[in-house]
Amino acid sequence: MFNFFKKREDNLVKDSNSTKINYEDAVDIANYFESLTGVSFDLNTSILKNKLTTFCRHHNLYSFEELMQRSKNDGLIRQDLINALTTNETYFYREFSQIKELLSVITSSKKSSVKILCAPCATGEEPYSIVIAILEKFPSMNVHIVGIDINTEALKKAKKASYTFRHVNKLPTQLLEKYFTSQKETYELKDDIKDKVTLKQANIFDDSFKDLGKFDYVFSRNMLIYFEQETKLKAKKILESMRIDNTTDVFLGHADLFE
Ligand SMILES: C[S@@+](CC[C@H](N)C(=O)[O-])C[C@H]1O[C@@H](n2cnc3c(N)ncnc32)[C@H](O)[C@@H]1O
Repeated sequence: MFNFFKKREDNLVKDSNSTKINYEDAVDIANYFESLTGVSFDLNTSILKNKLTTFCRHHNLYSFEELMQRSKNDGLIRQDLINALTTNETYFYREFSQIKELLSVITSSKKSSVKILCAPCATGEEPYSIVIAILEKFPSMNVHIVGIDINTEALKKAKKASYTFRHVNKLPTQLLEKYFTSQKETYELKDDIKDKVTLKQANIFDDSFKDLGKFDYVFSRNMLIYFEQETKLKAKKILESMRIDNTTDVFLGHADLFE
């Protein structure tokens, strides 16, 4: 018993105003974040704790408990927390074999118009890659993509569509030259590609997600990897419900595959 209290006391750090700061127990906030977004954290590592501690210091919050209460009552803090804790890594022509698969499915369908959902789109590279690949193969195709993500900062970057070499280096040079204008250190995507993608903030678990309507094809890559098995199954069902044709598979990333 004594040791327990001693340990708790060690974890309470006093700041210069003698206010007690407790950044120790991340279990409750991790559960809260998972109920909000589906994203689950491994509490055996210090990754979440480090991110939360930085976040709390930045927002002058003295404990994870205080953060959780504020986040429940304040939509701005909640969104900041979502932006801080979600991982938005992506790049052009990532998992290109899947886009090839889409091209072959479109060929067999003989469609002249396609509406695609990309959930999540992060900073935009995936929906823009799909548009480029479709137009390369079917120049007169009427293509429209809705890209959604829960992270508003990622979506701002997607709307700007200004990328560094790290994000475009998998694109063949001829496509880079055709679809981008290059500035000093950035590659700006041309408007005719940007115009084919509508970007929206959405959480796939919110009821309003379904208001986006139905799509010929649904892409959802590298989001389910952050979810526990039960949540993956729930997410997969929701994504499947967004298809016009129930016989087409949702395009998942190879790492999203179920255990
Ligand atoms: C690693 S990125 C995947 C980007 C892109 N699909 C790709 O494969 O390159 C994962 C994205 O999932 C988003 N995300 C996580 N949970 C979400 C949810 N419940 N609803 C919508 N987006 C979510 C994150 O904000 C993040 O941008």
